[in-house]
This record gives sequence, C-alpha cells and structure tokens, in this order.
Amino acid sequence: MLADKRILLIIGGGIAAFKALDLIRRLRERGASVTPVLTKAAEEFVTPLSASALAAHKVYRDLFDLTDEAEMGHIELSRAADLVVVVPATADLMAKMAQGHANDLASTLLMATDKRVLIAPAMNVKMWDHPATQRNLATLQGDGVLVAGPVEGAMACGEFGPGRMIEVPEIVVAIDAALSDGPLSGRKVLVTSGPTHEPIDPVRYIANRSSGAQGTAIAAALRDLGAKVTFVTGPASVAPPAGVRVVKVETAREMLAAVEAGLPADAAVFAAAVADWRVANAADRKMKKTEGAGSPALEFAENPDILKTVAQMEVGRPGLVVGFAAETHDVEANATAKRARKGCDWIVANDVSPATGIMGGAENKVSIVTADGVEDWPRLSKDETARRLAIRIAEAISG
Ligand code: CTP
Repeated sequence: MLADKRILLIIGGGIAAFKALDLIRRLRERGASVTPVLTKAAEEFVTPLSASALAAHKVYRDLFDLTDEAEMGHIELSRAADLVVVVPATADLMAKMAQGHANDLASTLLMATDKRVLIAPAMNVKMWDHPATQRNLATLQGDGVLVAGPVEGAMACGEFGPGRMIEVPEIVVAIDAALSDGPLSGRKVLVTSGPTHEPIDPVRYIANRSSGAQGTAIAAALRDLGAKVTFVTGPASVAPPAGVRVVKVETAREMLAAVEAGLPADAAVFAAAVADWRVANAADRKMKKTEGAGSPALEFAENPDILKTVAQMEVGRPGLVVGFAAETHDVEANATAKRARKGCDWIVANDVSPATGIMGGAENKVSIVTADGVEDWPRLSKDETARRLAIRIAEAISG
C-alpha cells in the first residue's frame, strides 16, 4: 500500500524522537520514500546524519538554509509529499500548529502544505492533560489533522498515564490508512447525530439522553472508509469527529434545514434522537414563577420527521436511507413496522431499556432490518458497531 508514497516526516524534539528513526526504516521497507525534517530540539535527541542515512535522503533543518531554497523552496517541499507526518508531536509543536505559527522550517512546512497531516503526540501526562494541550488538540482535530494516539503507559520521565506515543507499527498502520482511498472514496454520506433541544423559553429546553456517541462513531467509520461526510449534530456530549464537515444545530427544525442543505448524498444515516414534539407556545422572555399563578401550561406541536421526509423524497433521495429505532420492547416488530412507516431502506434497531446500559454506554447491540429480513448483531462496542455498519453501507452503495 505504501509503495511509491512520499512521506514528509517532521521529527519533533522529544525523547520519543529516536522512534522516528525506526519509523523511517519501516516506511522504506514498505516502499515509501521519506524526507526527514528535524526541528532544532529534535537534533538534541537524534542526529541529522542518522536520519539521512536511514532515509537515504537529504535532511532539512533550517528555514533559512539558502542551498535548500535554491534546490527546493519550503512551499514546494511541503507539497511534494503525499502525506505530512509529525513524530513525535510535542506539546510545543501542537501549540504552534494550532496557533498557525511559522517561525521555523517545521512549522512553516505545516502551514504551507496542502496535504493531509498526521501527528503522533508524545509528552508527559500532565502536559497532555493540560487544558492548553487539550484545547490545541480540539483545534487541530477541527482543522482536519489526523491524530494517532497517544496511549497510556509508563513514560521516560517515570510517570504513568496518557501521553505515551503509539508504537511504530501502529504509526505505520495509521499512515497506511491516511493514504488509502477506501471503498467510499468519492462518495458523499450525510449523518445526523445527538439529541435536539426544543426551547421552552430563552433559558429552558426539552432534551433527551442521547450522547451522540453512536452517530459520531458512524461518521468517523464512514470517513475512515474514504467518504466525504456531512455531520449534522444536535447538542451532543461527545465531540464531533475530525475530518468531517460539521453542522451544529439545536432544534429538529434546524436539523431538517441542515439536512436538506446537505443533500444530495449517496447515503444518509439518521442516528439523531430527534424530539418528536416542540413547545408550540415557547416564550421569548424567561418565564417567571408568579405567586398564586400556578404552573405554566405547555402546548406541543409535532416536529417534522426528518428521516421520513428524506426517505420519501421524490427527487434527490439518497440511494440508501438508514434510520434508527430505539425501542424498549418488541424491538423487532416495532422496527419492522417503523421501516415501512418511514419508507427507509434499513432500520438499525436497538433495545434501550435501562437494564441494557446502552443509552449513554460504550456498547450497543443492534439488529439490522432490511427488505430481506432481520439480522441480529452481537453486543459490540459502539465503535465496532459503527465500523460494521460503515462496511455494510460501502457494500450497498459501491456494489
Ligand atoms: N427521526 C427523525 N426525525 C424525527 C423523529 C425521528 O429523523 N422528528 C429519525 C431518527 O433519527 C431515527 C428514527 O427516525 O432514525 C427514529 O424514529 P422514532 O423517533 O423512534 O420514530 P417514531 O415514529 O417517533 O416512533 P416511536 O413513537 O416508536 O418512538
């Protein structure tokens, strides 16, 4: 998979820098060519000579190295690669990337590139957990930077926790995945996720317990197969995935408008827990409790059914429309009836009775209802459920 791929490898100044040398070796074994770039701090940990010997390539170090500029400018250097990889991504490098600094060769290349960037962070656990690093991480993910790791483990500094760089073979897998096209390459998929908030007045709203975890995992799994994903999300408690187009909404009506604006798509997955009703007499000023006036009477109006609207579109209906059915009883029968009622192609049904721990939990146990019948899947992590569903979607729309 890596044959003839060109990797621009930025080596950061951390104790894990020595692993970048092993990475160069393994990437070359798989047929890739590696152009190493060392930050000044990296030179404290690995020598330019060892990096260039292993890469069999010139090592770039200084933005103002005139010879380099004569041979190849930094703009060209940043774009001649198929992928830019940062190993190890130190707290400082992440901060520079998140802020858009361009004050040395590495940060300038990262600013100038038009290619995907994959980083493998490595730092002390306190530095990783620091709000500034977590802020930078969220910014980078929002910018579409691919982040591999870190993991928990013993560190060179003697502490234990998240911050340890993932191992070199895992970085190779992440590089491979970042460079491969995937079965959904060139396909557009729309995913709804999370709850909706329906206002009662400017400070109060009606919501539900959806965390958005399953919808987020599905969007990430579709992205990993190469799809261009539009992710329409209500106010979820989990962060949206990186590398997808995120559209944030609050209410069901806003969600419908965002979905309509996000079409056409080859497939649409409706994982959001949309409120069936909104408050028809929502107040535009905060409701006050007035002595003796009793409790307010809320009136409800039905929200648009987004899944049904899209599934029954006469023009521009996505080729595959997938709905969800969260049930507490008669799961199969209810889901089969729901599929017919809504007019969608598949229903992903699950039992969300409190005893299952699925709502808000990390696992799911679903059944897939299609025109051919019902298929029961085992209890799996939400990530694994998402991966399987994404593969099924790829088979259905690429076949
Ligand atoms: N859905 C939607 N828009 C709505 C309500 C639901 O898009 N206003 C979608 C959900 O994203 C999910 C499926 O429809 O894919 C779930 O339907 P559900 O809310 O369970 O359907 P209901 O017809 O309300 O069924 P029930 O009364 O059994 O809950």
